[in-house]
Amino acid sequence: MCYALCKQKNVRLKGGRIILIRRPTMRDLGALTKYINGLVEEDAPIDMTERISTSFERKWLKENVDDFKNGKRHYVMALLDGGMVGATNITVGKGRHSHVAEYGISVDKKYRRIGIGSALTKYILDVGKRDKKIKIITLRVYEFNTKAKAMYEKFGFRKVAYLRDRVMYKGKLYGEYVMDWERK
Ligand SMILES: CC(C)(COP(=O)(O)OP(=O)(O)OC[C@H]1O[C@@H](n2cnc3c(N)ncnc32)[C@H](O)[C@@H]1OP(=O)(O)O)[C@@H](O)C(=O)NCCC(=O)NCCS
Repeated sequence: MCYALCKQKNVRLKGGRIILIRRPTMRDLGALTKYINGLVEEDAPIDMTERISTSFERKWLKENVDDFKNGKRHYVMALLDGGMVGATNITVGKGRHSHVAEYGISVDKKYRRIGIGSALTKYILDVGKRDKKIKIITLRVYEFNTKAKAMYEKFGFRKVAYLRDRVMYKGKLYGEYVMDWERK
């Protein structure tokens, strides 16, 4: 369960700064909305393309706080300089896919390349590895997202499929890779 597995943790980055990694609560509504809209405004290589409202995010957070409790979703945010600077999650599949979890990650543009992505990935993979029903952690990444692909490979994800023309980004079609981490 995320409540049991996603413990609050301070992590020292390679440059010495310390981030706090923890689950979000309803009090983080404003920070989460601002964070997601920052990624949308940047046109980051993620599936979300529309700005979200606080009421949309409140609904999402309410529904997901339950999922955090029952272990269907593990979600944590990273905090630095008094604000939200990154987030990661793994969402466990249902029924015949209940051994497969989908992973996602993002870091605020102003805070990239200082190790936050790696710290979050390490944290959420540790959570996934302790959740013994999860055998495969899977992700999708746009083919041109070399930074993200390099990070995933560093953490043991391997390309298992290429989906041609799967995403439209800045008016052009691109392929997408499926990458898996498998429990040995
Ligand atoms: C991908 C992302 C999460 C990486 O976060 P980050 O905090 O910058 O990552 P880190 O500083 O921990 O770097 C992790 C690894 O990523 C790779 N990487 C990150 N930035 C890179 C860059 N500019 N050039 C080359 N490799 C890069 C490197 O392998 C790096 O490892 P290293 O430091 O040992 O060289 C971040 O760039 C991001 O949020 N991008 C926009 C959203 C996104 O693409 N999400 C993933 C969707 S699939």
